[in-house]
Amino acid sequence: MKNSYSNIFSFNKKILNKTIKNLNKSNVAGLPTETVYGLGGNAYSKISIQKIYKLKKRPLSNPLIIHYHNFKDALNDIKINENFKKLYKYFCPGPITFILEKKYNSKIHPLASAKLNTVAVRFPKHKIIRTILKEIDFPLAMPSANKSSKVSPVKAKDVFDEFKKKIQLIIDGGICKIGIESTVIDLTGSPKILRPGIIGKNTIEKVLKKKIKYNIRGKKIKSPGMMKKHYSPGIPVLINQKKYDGKSAFIYLGNKYKNKRNFFSLSRNLDLNEAASNLYKIFRLIKIKGYKKIQIGKIPNLGSGIAINDRIQRASKS
Ligand code: TXA
Ligand code: MG
Repeated sequence: MKNSYSNIFSFNKKILNKTIKNLNKSNVAGLPTETVYGLGGNAYSKISIQKIYKLKKRPLSNPLIIHYHNFKDALNDIKINENFKKLYKYFCPGPITFILEKKYNSKIHPLASAKLNTVAVRFPKHKIIRTILKEIDFPLAMPSANKSSKVSPVKAKDVFDEFKKKIQLIIDGGICKIGIESTVIDLTGSPKILRPGIIGKNTIEKVLKKKIKYNIRGKKIKSPGMMKKHYSPGIPVLINQKKYDGKSAFIYLGNKYKNKRNFFSLSRNLDLNEAASNLYKIFRLIKIKGYKKIQIGKIPNLGSGIAINDRIQRASKS
């Protein structure tokens, strides 16, 4: 069924077929996942990959995540290992991305993985994307559906705001439950978290029964997505703020400024998962309301707070 935006569609059998047809023709589509909306295209098709980079204005040096229905499909393209098997079994489908070595005969177009010999693979959980992945016979290269360095979309309408009618099809899968991007973990050597997410270091350590490290801002940039400028709402962001300046939008955690103008709580009851899920929604809301600056109070650096701090630190650098 069509709604007021002529390229946003609710999901049904007809739209599923339309989506598959589109993807088969190397077109790209705005698709929901449990983390954020993605801009998906055939990972084996040069044309699709080129369209994705062009629409996002993404540097060709920043590789894309390749999405599969299950690990059996991924075996065509990646070499798996024991750490992968354990984490897959425990978390997938779910909000985690694995960096693995690429098979020499993989059909993933080299542009999609920025000519690296590694690939980022993910097995998303959202029902709609799983239905699509089950029906097509190629994986989907799918970065977040935003212009490079901007805030990821968490609603179909956010995707529309990024690309307007430049994409033919956006599927409305409701608001993304998790609301920030997947945890990215490099499994090519001893496991390292490259991008923190809702699935945290402690949980991963429990599953692997060993200590792991972060390599988020290491000198040697393993993931070009670790570039400084990222997640920018398009206005200045100041973090670890103690004092309200009287005119900015102020983002905080808790209930202290309930109903007070210009104050936006990420979570009234200090739930850090809820806070993460509200972050991009509130960034976009603040921008729409016309504020010129965002101040953010201190966010505890534990659990999902680590992922929140990662995103807001980078937003503050843009
Ligand atoms: O939750 C998510 O992961 C969303 C949804 C749509 O699945 N996707 C997403 O994609 O966030 P994107 O392109 O916005 O972020 C992909 C991240 C980037 O930081 C990129 O540099 C990193 O994954 N990446 C991709 N391939 C890599 C590789 N071979 N080695 C290291 N990092 C890689
Ligand atoms: Mg992104």
